[in-house]
Amino acid sequence: MRIAFIGGGHMTTSLVGGLRARGAAPGDLCVSDPVAAQRERLEFDFGVRTTPANAEAVREADLVVLAVKPQDMAAAAQSIAAQLATRRRIVVSIAAGIRIANLLQWLGRGTPVVRTMPNRPALIGAGITAACAGPGVDHADRVAVERVLSTAGPLVWLDDESQMDVVTAVSGSGPAYFFLLVEALEDAGAALGLPRDVARQLAAHTALGAGRMVTESSDLPAKLREQVTSKGGTTAAALAVLEQAGLRGIFAGAIAAAARRSAELADQFGADPGRE
Ligand SMILES: NC(=O)c1ccc[n+]([C@@H]2O[C@H](COP(=O)([O-])OP(=O)(O)OC[C@H]3O[C@@H](n4cnc5c(N)ncnc54)[C@H](OP(=O)(O)O)[C@@H]3O)[C@@H](O)[C@H]2O)c1
Repeated sequence: MRIAFIGGGHMTTSLVGGLRARGAAPGDLCVSDPVAAQRERLEFDFGVRTTPANAEAVREADLVVLAVKPQDMAAAAQSIAAQLATRRRIVVSIAAGIRIANLLQWLGRGTPVVRTMPNRPALIGAGITAACAGPGVDHADRVAVERVLSTAGPLVWLDDESQMDVVTAVSGSGPAYFFLLVEALEDAGAALGLPRDVARQLAAHTALGAGRMVTESSDLPAKLREQVTSKGGTTAAALAVLEQAGLRGIFAGAIAAAARRSAELADQFGADPGRE
């Protein structure tokens, strides 16, 4: 499968690195980016082909990844529309807040399009991606998309595109919630006398360990929590404070606010394509 990447920034670098590590031939990967330094870096690091011309990158591709910022998406998509009209290719967008209807408007109505929402840990191969398929996307297309995006972590499919706003709120913005939690743990540990760097290390590795347990265990998170919470013990004392403060309700409000904001931003991109 020959893959074109439109935009050679952080996400493309990570996906190309993942594909090369899994044995993809460098000649099967082509990246277009307006910045010469970006192209030279990708050529040097991965041996892939590069070009400043988006349509040129797409010409021989079977699958196209649109990896530009949301505000650049209209221009990038429109720049490859004529080339896409010459033969069927699957197009995958990884941009936050760009709806399938807008992609079809810019790329051409018959284009098989998949809208995805990866998150930042994708940059270290530890992300999670949600995907939603547009009209005309078949099983083979889905398998091809999974092959590319799974280098960044697992991929889950959604049937209802409106749920992508909730995905953005939960996993798109989600890493920031965990960073905040690590900051808060570090501050609390330091306030109680631990050296700050020790408190940070303890908090960060606890986040890593808890994340691994919750993804690698067949037990639900609630069960794992109960297993570390003895009656009358230290964890129970801390959890009681968090529950009394209404932590679950605070998160419900925070996620709802992020989902609302995601829908507002998508409306802006759709109403006035190409501008934030
Ligand atoms: N980074 C993340 O954590 C993350 C997580 C989830 C999703 N995403 C999504 O992934 C997409 C890419 O993010 P990124 O962090 O990789 O962005 P990035 O590092 O800014 O890379 C985008 C690249 O595309 C180039 N570009 C701009 N307009 C173009 C055009 N018309 N044709 C071809 N290339 C063009 C940019 O060049 P210039 O610098 O000259 O503009 C830049 O080199 C975004 O839509 C973002 O929403 C990112």
